[in-house]
Amino acid sequence: MESINSKNIILGISGGIAAYKTPELVRRLKDRGANVRVVMTPNANEFVTALSLQAVSGMPVRTEILDTEGESGMDHIDLARWADLILIAPASASIVSRLATGSASDLLCTLCLATEAPVFLAPAMNRVMWGKPATKRNVSQLLDDGFLVLGPGVGHQACGETGSGRMLDPLDMIKLLEEQISKPPAVNKILEVMITAGPTWEALDPVRGITNASSGKMGYEIARAFQQHGCSVTLISGPCNLDTPSGVRRIDVTSAADMFNAVHTNVSKIQIFIGVAAVADYRPVNTESQKMKKNASEMTITLVRNPDILASVASLAEPPFCVGFAAETENLRNYAVSKLNKKKLDLVAANIVGQENLGFNAEDNALLLIGKDTDQQLGPASKATLSRQLCTIVLKKYEEKNST
Ligand SMILES: Cc1cc2nc3c(=O)[nH]c(=O)nc-3n(C[C@H](O)[C@H](O)[C@H](O)COP(=O)(O)O)c2cc1C
Repeated sequence: MESINSKNIILGISGGIAAYKTPELVRRLKDRGANVRVVMTPNANEFVTALSLQAVSGMPVRTEILDTEGESGMDHIDLARWADLILIAPASASIVSRLATGSASDLLCTLCLATEAPVFLAPAMNRVMWGKPATKRNVSQLLDDGFLVLGPGVGHQACGETGSGRMLDPLDMIKLLEEQISKPPAVNKILEVMITAGPTWEALDPVRGITNASSGKMGYEIARAFQQHGCSVTLISGPCNLDTPSGVRRIDVTSAADMFNAVHTNVSKIQIFIGVAAVADYRPVNTESQKMKKNASEMTITLVRNPDILASVASLAEPPFCVGFAAETENLRNYAVSKLNKKKLDLVAANIVGQENLGFNAEDNALLLIGKDTDQQLGPASKATLSRQLCTIVLKKYEEKNST
């Protein structure tokens, strides 16, 4: 993993309560060998003093775009060129919105426009602000524009509420940052990625069947993220009412057995397999050819086990990099670890289902990512945001595995 040692980092601070943690963040960045220069929004000055940040960074702190003391009068361009990366922490809802529109209304936003270096955002705000459609739209736009997002975390907030929107702790933030600046996958060929999505339908008769509440949204967003990352994506989809993401090859299936066959017909050419579909574990032993009539007062349906698609792919002689989704209603971590080991997967993305506004059928999700050297919480965030974060991590892990 690449380190921030010797990297020139502009730490941008905007006006959020978490700004009080930034002197500590500067110290931790410097401990790792980074050269840090601090730029504050005018509002950030209300939350932490420039004097403290100057003392810990050992460099003058800049706030104003029009600074007559700037060496060349074009100080913002010099500063933008100096940076190897910009980290904005905390990133307020306001700066997220300004950056999403390409605003150059203050020094920090101007630097983000003027730099060719990657810009990382560590959002920090009240959980309701973080969950608002406007904020989600802005974050999604920024991800599309190439910004990288670290967190936010979940927990107790300064406003007294508990939820998603806490700025990550400095050490967690730096760890994620280093993971993300590690060299992007050396893709000398286009990676073939297969994703399963949606529910399956196990027919009882021509009009009835056993299915589940999966909407397919998570799998479709993951397919979109990998396609936008330059991969060739095959999406094997159970019955869903969603549009195919642009550029993705979609194969429609109905039952778990159909999905198994479609996966194994296409698996030989892929490098990465992501099993997101909520595949029925059982199917009726018999499917009636005509609609069943209600004659008896009780009815027993005998079910048989379906093949385990994920395990069957992971146990191939030359398996692709395998990522499994685990939807659980309790004991998330234990089930995730056991699934990882039992099915010999590279990564498990576990999510709690059965909670309001998260998981199945919801717009948002939260993932616990578990692997040999991975233990990471992603979200809660929109499925589009999580998919992009997951895509970056999976490609990195794939590269690490294949370079050893
Ligand atoms: C006490 C206090 C705490 C605040 N905390 C946050 C916060 O954590 N996150 C946020 O997005 N806005 C927060 N705000 C609102 C921002 O300060 C406000 O939107 C401001 O315009 C942000 O400006 P900037 O992004 O230019 O720094 C807070 C405001 C006050 C008065």
